[in-house]
Amino acid sequence: MTSLDDIDDLRSWLELAGKLGEVTTIGGAHWDKEIGAASEANYRRPSPPALLFDDIVGYRSGQRVLTASMSNARRLGLTLRLGTDLDDRALVEALRSKPGEWAANAGRYPVREVPTGPVKENVTAAGEADLLAFPVPQWHEADGGRYIGTGCAVFTTDPATGVLNAGAYRMQVQNGGRAASVNIEAGKHGAAHVREWFAREGRAPVTASFGHDPLLLVVAGTEVPAGISELEYAGAVLGRPVDVIRGEVTGLPIPATAEIAVEGWLYPDRREQEGPFGEWTGYYSGGTEAVLTLDVERIYHRDDPILLGAPPGKPPHDYSYMRSVMKSAMIQDALIQTGLPGVEGVWAHEAGGGRQLLAVAVDQRYAGHARQAGYLTAQLPAAAYMNKFVVVVDADVNPRSLSDVVWAMCTRTDPADDIETMRQTWGSRVDPLREKGAAPFNTRAVIDACRPWNRLASFPKVAESGAELMDRVMRRWPDVLGGPR
Ligand SMILES: Cc1cc2nc3c(=O)[nH]c(=O)nc-3n(C[C@H](O)[C@H](O)[C@H](O)COP(=O)(O)O)c2cc1C
Repeated sequence: MTSLDDIDDLRSWLELAGKLGEVTTIGGAHWDKEIGAASEANYRRPSPPALLFDDIVGYRSGQRVLTASMSNARRLGLTLRLGTDLDDRALVEALRSKPGEWAANAGRYPVREVPTGPVKENVTAAGEADLLAFPVPQWHEADGGRYIGTGCAVFTTDPATGVLNAGAYRMQVQNGGRAASVNIEAGKHGAAHVREWFAREGRAPVTASFGHDPLLLVVAGTEVPAGISELEYAGAVLGRPVDVIRGEVTGLPIPATAEIAVEGWLYPDRREQEGPFGEWTGYYSGGTEAVLTLDVERIYHRDDPILLGAPPGKPPHDYSYMRSVMKSAMIQDALIQTGLPGVEGVWAHEAGGGRQLLAVAVDQRYAGHARQAGYLTAQLPAAAYMNKFVVVVDADVNPRSLSDVVWAMCTRTDPADDIETMRQTWGSRVDPLREKGAAPFNTRAVIDACRPWNRLASFPKVAESGAELMDRVMRRWPDVLGGPR
């Protein structure tokens, strides 16, 4: 019987998620846009199941693709080893202070090097390497190609310290399957490593895993502080070290239980046209660029490997829920650490990709408190990249409900007085509003959707039933009304 403690790869994760009724299998989909479109339809459902694609057109039965791995509270709670019966709020509460603890404890879990592992069941050398031997999807209709790396972990090292980094940087299949471009945005830790290797050695070693315990996607795709190895951070989540093998060519680690992995070197002048790709903003906003490309030196894979897909796109997308929960907990922790009192809750809404729209609930304690919460949130390191709106609401408003947040804006914000803007703030190359060639600044707004401080006592009463009356009617007609809240 698999329990949370037994999960050490994607297969044991799937077994447990399957037992909980959280996985649906789909047969006969085509890698060319159908897997992507079916996944997209699934993300739009409330609390979508994970989708496991098998019998993919043109590929052997057993060569599978998984999407929506962490698109609800149950599977994200399972992945973070926090429990499988938490709702959105309870998950954020359970997660609060954990990212800081995991970072602090990471050093106690150095990776455990093992001589071999399931990932070495099949090893292909450069001459025969073909990434298209796997059912790599063309995810969106207007993508520039097939992306093997979406739910991936790309491993690099700091040549000076040897510290390992894992980042989820998308990888597009190039050169008929013999190469893959690695799209690392400037400013990411992997980009600094590659730059440093180029300066010292003229090339940068890289390994990448394309199917693993989704926990590795969370740690690779989340801003873990520089200098901390994401694999050690994952070890701190698990309470035991992660097993790795060494790549035969580069010597860099590869998770021993990975489904599919590659290794090779990046060279400063080895680039291929990459993109366009449906981005997390919901647009093909990154365009096409010449991007560093890895000629594949080795492919390692298990028998009947499972590709972990995590395509972004117009939200809700594959990992927008994961991003929302991780960001909400990290921002709430950081906000409380500033010393700001009265923080009742934070939610990073999926509609803004977990970055652009943040709602913060505060129990107003003094004049200026609401604006202070808004300004601080908008510039916290955990929140600043690509934030557009911070909406501050009173403690009686549920920050996780888009409807309640918008209602508070409609009824407690005076647009002429209560919207503050900031300029030349930290934007992104993928912002659809950025003019071609312009520096990636953005502007942002703090929307004060709290009752005005000087009218707190006299502000009209909210027209909704009190908790006691509501509870009474819910208990009286549970079948009709859905039971007590
Ligand atoms: C599924 C997924 C895909 C991502 N794709 C990219 C990408 O193509 N390029 C990029 O720079 N960041 C991408 N990100 C964001 C980075 O993974 C994230 O910022 C992470 O913190 C980077 O690691 P680092 O902080 O060690 O650099 C993606 C995140 C996820 C979850």
